[in-house]
Amino acid sequence: MTSSIIGSGSVGAAIARQFARSGITVGIANTRGPESIASMARELGDKVVPLTLQAALEADVIVLAVPFRAHCDVARAAANWKGKVVIDATNAYGVPLSELDSLPSSAIVAKAFSGASLVKASIICPPRYSPSIPSAPVAVE
Ligand SMILES: NC(=O)c1ccc[n+]([C@@H]2O[C@H](COP(=O)([O-])OP(=O)(O)OC[C@H]3O[C@@H](n4cnc5c(N)ncnc54)[C@H](OP(=O)(O)O)[C@@H]3O)[C@@H](O)[C@H]2O)c1
Repeated sequence: MTSSIIGSGSVGAAIARQFARSGITVGIANTRGPESIASMARELGDKVVPLTLQAALEADVIVLAVPFRAHCDVARAAANWKGKVVIDATNAYGVPLSELDSLPSSAIVAKAFSGASLVKASIICPPRYSPSIPSAPVAVE
């Protein structure tokens, strides 16, 4: 099974670091091309492989770490999502509910990636950052 992260910003890089720590190979892509990720990947070791978007989309498991509105562009970049697992790490913070048809943002993402199995991921906030919430759940749909 192969995995890729789409998005190499703070979230994509943090997820890539966890793959590297676990010794699992992962591709990573952004809009600017593999050269723009090369130094970050080198720092993390040979498990993190910079790819073009098209090459990254060939993976079985795709982690979506792009701004919420960019999910449509990523969805359109592949002809078919059948059989893929898409892990949605996006956050629709600031997107008006009217734009979401009052649905959970993951439902909008699932529609765009029709045919894929969608997993909604949330980054766990350690208690020291949020004392009133002992641990935030990871939601799976
Ligand atoms: N689930 C959670 O708990 C949680 C927590 C924090 C943030 N988030 C969400 O995680 C997502 C990423 O946040 P971030 O802070 O990492 O954002 P960021 O630093 O702005 O990085 C976004 C990345 O997405 C890439 N990108 C944008 N459009 C793309 C496209 N069409 N195709 C391929 N790559 C594209 C950008 O490429 P370039 O580098 O080439 O510009 C960039 O690498 C956001 O949706 C944010 O709201 C989730």
